[in-house]
Amino acid sequence: MAKSDEMNTILTRVGPGTPMGNLFRRFWLPALLGNEVIPDGQPVRLRILGEDLVAFRDTSGKVGVVEAYCPHRAAPLYFGRNEECGLRCVYHGWKYDVSGNCLDIPNIIPPDNFEAVKARLRIIGYPTWEAGGVVWVYMGPKEKKPEALPPMEWISLPETQVHVSRWLQRSNWAQGFEGEIDSAHLTFIHGVTNYEGTVQEVFMHDGAPEIFVRETDGGFIYGARRKYRDGYYWRVTAWVLPMWSVTGAFHPDKSIHGRGWLPIDDEHTCTFAYKFLKDEGYTAEQIEKTNSGWSFPPRMTKGTYALTDGTLIDTFLPIATRENDYLIDRELQKTTKYSGIYGINDEDRGIQEGMRRAPGRQGTIDRRFENLVRSDAAILAARQKIVRLAQNLENGIEPVDQGFGKGKPTGALGMVTPIADFEELLTVYAELIPHTNAAAAPLN
Ligand code: FES
Ligand SMILES: [Fe+2]
Repeated sequence: MAKSDEMNTILTRVGPGTPMGNLFRRFWLPALLGNEVIPDGQPVRLRILGEDLVAFRDTSGKVGVVEAYCPHRAAPLYFGRNEECGLRCVYHGWKYDVSGNCLDIPNIIPPDNFEAVKARLRIIGYPTWEAGGVVWVYMGPKEKKPEALPPMEWISLPETQVHVSRWLQRSNWAQGFEGEIDSAHLTFIHGVTNYEGTVQEVFMHDGAPEIFVRETDGGFIYGARRKYRDGYYWRVTAWVLPMWSVTGAFHPDKSIHGRGWLPIDDEHTCTFAYKFLKDEGYTAEQIEKTNSGWSFPPRMTKGTYALTDGTLIDTFLPIATRENDYLIDRELQKTTKYSGIYGINDEDRGIQEGMRRAPGRQGTIDRRFENLVRSDAAILAARQKIVRLAQNLENGIEPVDQGFGKGKPTGALGMVTPIADFEELLTVYAELIPHTNAAAAPLN
């Protein structure tokens, strides 16, 4: 394992040419929600893995995720006219299709070799794929493009059974993601004082869960075992490469849910959240409750955000922010709610955005100051594994050659049972926690 500051650099830097940036570029990534773009409608400004992009839906309904700036004189294509199957720069009229092909250069007299000129002036246009209410994008080398989206069940369910959302987190992706595989924090930051009979009860009795990690084809699956009455409360969470969680625990409407932590750049992240019901659609009431901000997504508004260098992106902006102390209520903290902060994501994001910063690196934690304990086992395993995968890729070993990005969708679970052994739990509840495991080796 690399020394911790070197490990931290590999883990957190995602721009073009970095080891982690290259690893992310081997997977289909979520770019935006499908309903954010309508045919011939307004484009959406994005930054993904440090690259500035615009997304637009053309006249025929195809979505393009293309370079943000016009190659003529670097004008922002965001202001372009989205018409007749392409985006036309309003400065001098150059026009591009969803794949980045140059269709027109109206401010020159067409030369004899016009087709060759246009071919030379194409822009980046990444392959896209719409599924699960999300526009997915692939930003890696053409010949390495995976045939499948990350193996998660929600992506192929009818849209009435799925709820997806996205919003801005002002931190590096890794500390956001690490919160997903940190089962111990539930008892504290998400805890309530009078928990008897609430959905929180199962994790309020024991704040020091035992963690068991097992490698899967998609990433890993881990169990957090808490003592609960005469048995155990098990919370089984999966990690699907490169940055998705699947968790089955503690949701009043019985949803399975999770998040994907898409790096905008080294300092900002777009959190994608999904939840789904396996067998039935959500009621209007359930959707309304979900959108109220009590868990994921947080209370938020659609808006524009200026990144560190001033570049604007179009995203969803949480209402509880660093500037308003996440609306913490100290009275609530003393009486009924452990954190004093309203929503579950407000709680997580409030802590993750404020973690000790690495010198000169806004939004990135300085992991040299941490002291990890036993209940942080899954975090440590994930870091080691993803850094190893990034290093392996530097040496020419593709993640797909190590079994990743393939396999069955991975499931998750939250339940009370007398079973104490993780392997036994996985066997008994194999149907509820489907996963494939090429390596078949426990990680700890
Ligand atoms: S800058 Fe876009 S056409 Fe001139
Ligand atoms: Fe949390």
